Amino acid sequence: MCGIVCYVGSREAKPILIDGLKQLEYRGYDSAGIAIQNQGQVQRFRAVGRIVELEKKINSIPLPGKVGMAHTRWATHGEPSELNAHPHADQEEKVFIVHNGIIENYHQIKKRLEKKGVEFSSETDTEVLAHLIALYFDGDLGEAVRRTMADVEGTFGIAVLHRDAPGQIVVARRGSPLVIGISNDGHFAASDVSAMVRHTSQVVHLQDNEMAVITRDDFSITTAQAKLIQRAVEEVEWKAEDAELNGFPHYMLKEIYEQPETIENAMRGRLEPGEGVPKLGGITPVWDRLKECRHLVMVACGTSYYAGCVGRYLFERLTEVDTEVELASEFRYRKLNFPPNTFILALSQSGETADTLAAIREARRKGAGLLGIVNVVGSSIARETDAGIYNHAGPEIGVASTKIFTSQLTILTLLALLIGRHQNLPLTEGITAIRALQALPHQVREILAQAHHIEAIAEKYHKCQNWLFLGRKYNYPIAMEGALKLKEISYIHAEGYAAGEMKHGPIALINPDMPTVAIAPMDEMYEKMLSNIQEIKSRKGPVIAIVTKGDEKVKELADEVIEVPTTVDYLYPILTVIPCQLLAYYCASLLGRDIDKPRNLAKSVTVE
Ligand code: AGP
Repeated sequence: MCGIVCYVGSREAKPILIDGLKQLEYRGYDSAGIAIQNQGQVQRFRAVGRIVELEKKINSIPLPGKVGMAHTRWATHGEPSELNAHPHADQEEKVFIVHNGIIENYHQIKKRLEKKGVEFSSETDTEVLAHLIALYFDGDLGEAVRRTMADVEGTFGIAVLHRDAPGQIVVARRGSPLVIGISNDGHFAASDVSAMVRHTSQVVHLQDNEMAVITRDDFSITTAQAKLIQRAVEEVEWKAEDAELNGFPHYMLKEIYEQPETIENAMRGRLEPGEGVPKLGGITPVWDRLKECRHLVMVACGTSYYAGCVGRYLFERLTEVDTEVELASEFRYRKLNFPPNTFILALSQSGETADTLAAIREARRKGAGLLGIVNVVGSSIARETDAGIYNHAGPEIGVASTKIFTSQLTILTLLALLIGRHQNLPLTEGITAIRALQALPHQVREILAQAHHIEAIAEKYHKCQNWLFLGRKYNYPIAMEGALKLKEISYIHAEGYAAGEMKHGPIALINPDMPTVAIAPMDEMYEKMLSNIQEIKSRKGPVIAIVTKGDEKVKELADEVIEVPTTVDYLYPILTVIPCQLLAYYCASLLGRDIDKPRNLAKSVTVE
C-alpha cells in the first residue's frame, strides 16, 4: 500500500518526485519522504501526514539533483512518525532505501546487526535493509542489494541509492509491484504507472526476485542469481489526463460518472451481435479447456468479491458451469479438492491484492486453471494467471471502487455468455443479452441524471447512524456492495443483507432512525421484495427503494424512490448499484469526509 517513485535523468528530480507521489497518495498515506543525490551528497526530508506536509518542509529549500526517490507510507510496522517514514538510511547515512511490503524475518536480521554494533533509529522492518546493504556495499550497489535480497524473507518492492554510487538507483521486487519507466530524459521506477504516466507511456514490469540498476541513459534487469533479463517494453494505455480530476470535486464522483464510458470500454471490440456471442481474445490460450469447464471458483476481496457474488448468479443463469465464489482471504484455508478441469477466476482492480494473489498461488499448487479479470496491465495477478480479460477502465484513483465494479460485472456477463453460447444457451438468448448490454451506457446516463434527487435523499438521511441494505438473488450482492460503499467513505455503519433473512433476525433492528435501502427492480424477486418493504414500513422504518422506472406499487409504500430503466434480470445489478454509489458519495460529502482517501484505507491492499 505504500507508494514509491524514483527518477534518474537529466531533469531536476524534486518536482518530478513530488508530483509522482501525489499520483500515488491514494495508495496509502500516513507519512512521506524524499531523498535526492547531488554531487556526492544525499539530502533526505521526511514528514508525518499528507504529502503537503513534506512539501511545506522542502518548498523553501534548494534541493538540486537529478537522482532521487520518494515514498508515501501506510504503516505496517511502527506508528506513523518522521523517524518511521521512508527513506530509511544506514548509520552513516550513505544508503537510502524506500520499501513497500513486509520483511518477515526482520527481527532475526535486526538482532544479527545489533550484535555487530548497528544502532537502529526506527521501529520499522525496512531499516534492516539499509543496514544490510551498507554492510554488503563494496562499491557495487547492485551486488549489495542482491546479497541483501538473499538474506530477506517476506515481500518487498524497494529502491536504493548510495552516496558513493553516483547516478544510479537500484530497484528490486518480491511480491510488491515495481515498474520501470523509459523516457528521453531519464528513467523512472514506481509502485505503479500512475506515478510516471505524465512523463512516459513506455514501461517495463519487474517480476518477482528480479532487480534492476537504472541510470540516466540505461537500465539493466537481472535475476536474484545475476542472470541478465531482456524484457519487452509495454505501452501504457492510460494518459496523464486520465489521472486528473477534470473539474470534479473528487475522483470518486468522476469515476462514478465515467461508468457509461467504462462499461462501453469493457465491451469495445468484444461483441458479435448477430451471433449473440462475445469475442474475448484474452482467454484464447485456455479456451479449449475453459469451454469444457464444469467447475469455476471466483476469488476476490471487497468490492471485487461482491462482483464475484453477482458473477455466480450470472454463470448459473447463462452457463452449465457449477460456480462458487470465495473471499480470497478465506479461500486459502479451505481443503481444496478441485474436480477435473476446474478454473479459478480472480477479480482484482489493482492486480496486486495480496490475499487474492495468495489464493491463486494456492490454486496453482492444486492444479486449477487460472483466469483473471484485472484493470492494471502487467500487474502481478495479470501475469500469474494463465489468461485473462482486462477492464480497460483507466486508472481508478478513488479508494472506493465504483467504475471497476460495473466493468467487472460487464466482463463477467461477457464471459458467462461466451461459455454459455458454447453450451446450451440458444442464439436468441445470446442476442437478447447483447442488446441489453449495448443499452447499458445510455441507461446508466439516465440514472446519473437523477444525481440531484439522490443528493436530496442523502440530505435527509445522512445523519442516521445505521443503515440496512436489502436485496435478493442478483441484487443481494448489490445490497452488500451498497453497504460497503456507505461504510468506507462516510464511516456510517451499514449492513447488506439477503432480504429473505429479514425475518431471521435483522427485522428486530427496524426503527424510524434506520433507513433501509430496498433494491426492488421488476425482476423475478419483485413480489418478495414488496413484502419486505411492507414489513419494514409496518414497523415505521424509512425505506429508500431502488425500483424499475414506472413502478407505481412501491411508490405508494416507500418513503423515497429511485428509478432505474428496465433491463434483463441478470443486468439489473449494473444499474441498481449506481444509486448506491451516489447515496454513499453524497452522504460522505455532507459529512465532510475525505472521500478519495478515507481514513485507515488504501487503494491497493498489498499486505495480508
Ligand atoms: C472497494 O471500494 C474497496 N476499496 C476494496 O474493498 C477493494 O475492492 C478491495 O481491496 C479489492 O481490491 P482489488 O480489486 O484491487 O483486488
